[in-house]
Parts: sequence; structure tokens; C-alpha cells
Amino acid sequence: MKVVTSATDLPSGCAFVPTMGALHAGHASLFKIAKNQSENVVASIFINPLQFENEEDLVKYPKTPDADIEIAQNSGVTHLWFPRREEIYPEGFNSVKAGPISKLYEGASRAGHFDGVVTVVRRLFDLVKPKLAVFGEKDFQQLKLVEEIAADVSIVRAPTIRESDGLAMSSRNIRLSTEGRAAAPSIYQALSTATSETELREILSAQPLLTVDYADFIDEETFLPAQPDTQKVRALVAGWINGVRLIDNMQMVKRA
Ligand code: PAF
Repeated sequence: MKVVTSATDLPSGCAFVPTMGALHAGHASLFKIAKNQSENVVASIFINPLQFENEEDLVKYPKTPDADIEIAQNSGVTHLWFPRREEIYPEGFNSVKAGPISKLYEGASRAGHFDGVVTVVRRLFDLVKPKLAVFGEKDFQQLKLVEEIAADVSIVRAPTIRESDGLAMSSRNIRLSTEGRAAAPSIYQALSTATSETELREILSAQPLLTVDYADFIDEETFLPAQPDTQKVRALVAGWINGVRLIDNMQMVKRA
């Protein structure tokens, strides 16, 4: 594996996985999916300042470069790119506006977040020129908005990777206290058992450590509330445990 700091050292037409580092088994699964599609797998590690609403979150974002190099190396990455800020955001770079879905759910409580995400993803795509890029369904709203701006890059959807108790893997999980960590799988349990939005909310409200931000059944194409005839229903959940924001989602197949 080559570790590079400039996009000029990357092979074009590769499979690409953008990340912000603090890599875990969820990222490793994205790299492996990329490896199945292409000889050359490029991963980037860039903590994108544009997608953070406040400076404190940005500063607090975990940084584990040595462990990241090892995980990338062991999961099929051929080129690990640590871009410099000036390469991603040269003077006069074009910012991109995310589509209307960006105002809902995660976007409603994180103003400007998705504009920051699609701006960096577009910049990364323009610099890497991949044939495909892999994104996890864990951040389902992000995945949808990236699909809208991808045009020349095919987006491969990757399933959410979970801990053995169901908690969706996330770099934020390490910030949970022992009690909070024990409570966190309740989100997965609610998603896997609820047959309606009401039931989902009921199950979630039984967990005293969890403050729910939203728990909704949506049409996954439009992000509008699911209707009785909606073909693809997805449940979205976000909440806080110990002040740590957790999100998860699941496609709802008819449950009798
Ligand atoms: O999902 C992430 O880690 C980030 O939002 C991404 C896609 C790497 C853009 O900074």
C-alpha cells in the first residue's frame, strides 16, 4: 500500500472510499467491497471542516493515523491518501449545494452539514477521478445526497456493519460511557422489531438514557413520510445518549 499526500500520485479509474479516518470494521468492509470491484482501491482520510457546525466538534474529532494505516493496509487499500487542506480547498474552489432532502432529518438539526459533505465529495471525485465510490447505508441521507451529485461516478451502496449486539459501528461509539454503551443497542432493537412508526417510538421511549431527535418511517426515494402504498419504506432514527449523537436506519420489510 502506498501512502500519498497528493492526488497526482493516485491511479485514475480506481474504486474510491472517502473517509474522515478513525477507521473501524465498518470502513474495512467498504474497502473490501471496493477491492472486489477494482485492482486499485484509493481511500482518503480528510477531516472536512465544511461539514462541522461548530469548531469544538471538529477539534474533538478522533485522529488515529497509525491504526488507520494498518486497517487500510489489511483491507485491500492500495493507495491511502492524506490530502492537504489547500489541495481540497484551493482559493476560489466551487462549493456545491445539496438537494432539498438535505434540509430534512440530519440536515434539520445540522445546518449546512450536507452542503459541506457534497462539496468535499465533489472535490474528492474531481481530484481522484474514480470509476466508482463506496458509501455505507449507515449514513443513508448522506448516501442519497451523494448519489444526486455523483453523475460520472457510480455509487456502490454498502450495508451497515454492526457490533455483535446490533449497535451500528461509528467513530462516535467510543465516546459513550459504559452505561451509555449498554443502552445504545436499543436503537437497533427498536428498528428490528417495530412494525409501525408508533411502535418504533414506543420502544425507543422505554430507554431512559436515550433522547430521541427523530424516529420516522419514510419513503426512501423522496424522504417524505411513508404512506400505506409506499414501495420502499425506511425507518430513520437519531438521538443522543450521554450527549453523543447516534443515528441508524433500516429498510422496513413487511412484518406480520
Ligand atoms: O461519511 C463520512 O465519513 C464523511 O461524511 C465523508 C463522506 C468522508 C465526507 O467527508
